Amino acid sequence: MHPNTLFFAAAATAVASAQDLATALAGQSSLTMLVALLGQVSNTTEFLASHEKVTLFAPNDDAFAGIVQSGGIFSIDQASVDPGLIEQILRYHLYRGVVKAEDITPVPNFIHSYLNYSGFVLDGEVSGSNVTGGQVVSVNLNAEGDALVTAGIKVASKVTVADITFDNGIIHIIDKLLLIPLSISETLITGNFTALAGAATQAGLVPTLEDLSDVTIFCPNNDAFQKIASGTGNITDEQLAEILKYHVVQGTVGYSTLLSNSSLATLDDEEVKITIDDDGAVFVNSARVINADILVANGVIHVIDEVLNPANPYATPSENATATATTSLATFVPFTSGIEPETSVYFELTQTTSFVAAGLVTGTPSATNGSGNSSVTTTSGPVIQTTNAGGRNDLPALAAAVAIGALAFAIDW
Ligand SMILES: *[C@@H]1O[C@H](CO)[C@@H](O)[C@H](O)[C@H]1NC(C)=O
Ligand SMILES: *[C@@H]1O[C@H](CO)[C@@H](O)[C@H](O)[C@H]1NC(C)=O
Ligand SMILES: *[C@@H]1O[C@H](CO)[C@@H](O)[C@H](O)[C@H]1NC(C)=O
Ligand SMILES: *[C@@H]1O[C@H](CO)[C@@H](O)[C@H](O)[C@H]1NC(C)=O
Ligand SMILES: *[C@@H]1O[C@H](CO)[C@@H](O)[C@H](O)[C@H]1NC(C)=O
Ligand SMILES: *[C@@H]1O[C@H](CO)[C@@H](O)[C@H](O)[C@H]1NC(C)=O
Ligand SMILES: *[C@@H]1O[C@H](CO)[C@@H](O)[C@H](O)[C@H]1NC(C)=O
Ligand SMILES: *[C@@H]1O[C@H](CO)[C@@H](O)[C@H](O)[C@H]1NC(C)=O
Repeated sequence: MHPNTLFFAAAATAVASAQDLATALAGQSSLTMLVALLGQVSNTTEFLASHEKVTLFAPNDDAFAGIVQSGGIFSIDQASVDPGLIEQILRYHLYRGVVKAEDITPVPNFIHSYLNYSGFVLDGEVSGSNVTGGQVVSVNLNAEGDALVTAGIKVASKVTVADITFDNGIIHIIDKLLLIPLSISETLITGNFTALAGAATQAGLVPTLEDLSDVTIFCPNNDAFQKIASGTGNITDEQLAEILKYHVVQGTVGYSTLLSNSSLATLDDEEVKITIDDDGAVFVNSARVINADILVANGVIHVIDEVLNPANPYATPSENATATATTSLATFVPFTSGIEPETSVYFELTQTTSFVAAGLVTGTPSATNGSGNSSVTTTSGPVIQTTNAGGRNDLPALAAAVAIGALAFAIDW
């Protein structure tokens, strides 16, 4: 069966005649909130309509209601106080290139939005985009055949109505607001990666990391730090900084679909070796990537199960199994003192992501390059898919709070 069959069956597919944006939105009964919002903030409709060959993800009324249910308030009055903020949100819902339902496959496709501001501050934290070409979301089909749009901290919105054409491109209606990716430190805390958060703080590296553009960060989880806890007692801040810089690649946002067997230069002027084995598992030196594609303001984070050792760059994937079998965990997680963990950790950030062999997934990895109509072009490379077994998909408390801070929305209409 073609992977899109279910999606087509499940999603109501809409009218195909060209119409302007306002007409297209007004014709959809589930978009009353969005239409009202656009009506209040005078220049946003023009902004949305002023770009050619776009894909607009239009949040439906449930998406706005979801913010309210998670304790947020939504105020169109406040929205008009800061139309600049609303514009940022809308920019993150508008994508370069026309992605039709038929272009969406099980393999995630990372597409670039019109959110390309680097100085966006959300809740006191730098957020938004310091990613060349504009901040991204990934679009893919899940095992049930639903089209998902996955944004900051891996919150996935579902496409409920696909392929509404308008003069400038195509609209898909989605059931959650797309959450603009957060700063590195906010994201680490949200995912309970408190050891890396603490280590980066101790090493004085946080401002450096957050001020870079286009980063790929390999983030050892807390268990990984616990494995090396006994060796961390006498480490100096400088040594720690060197080790952490070995986990950062700058100049390439290495979304999972772009990774291949290769070496990548790290911030400490060394190299890490990426290996994708024949089962599709991805390794960095000997560390295994266990959760991929967590989007942050200035790039992407992949979670790994070992702390990388710059003194041992030739470590290979086979050493991972050996280490796992022989390492006894310390009783404490180093670097976490003074780091206040979140009480509610977003599930999608803590679960293990499995990487499946190319043969198990139909279709090849694809990347949009923004030119042309049906802008999905294919590239060759590893095929990586995340499992989503029983995942919690509701907007987490923190994300909701942040979304509210950003939107300053309070429903009073
Ligand atoms: C819309 O108006 C707001 C407030 O004047 C401004 O910050 C924003 O840049 C404008 N957007 C566009 C696309 O002109
Ligand atoms: C952001 O994108 C707009 C097109 O929408 C472009 O004119 C502008 O130069 C871009 N800005 C940056 C900082 O890339
Ligand atoms: C974005 O990255 C550039 C370096 O490429 C840096 O100079 C700038 O400060 C960054 N912007 C933010 C908001 O961090
Ligand atoms: C966060 O990580 C710590 C240490 O690994 C663990 O003890 C704690 O249960 C985690 N918190 C949540 C909410 O998962
Ligand atoms: C830390 O330094 C002390 C004093 O030099 C030494 O006795 C101890 O073994 C060191 N601990 C580690 C984990 O290297
Ligand atoms: C990547 O390297 C691994 C280990 O050397 C090998 O098994 C795999 O076939 C390589 N993949 C490609 C596409 O060359
Ligand atoms: C982008 O698309 C254009 C037109 O189809 C093509 O010429 C170009 O090679 C593509 N670039 C990439 C990076 O795929
Ligand atoms: C855009 O799509 C139309 C209709 O499918 C096609 O005729 C045209 O060649 C396409 N243009 C590009 C640049 O791909």
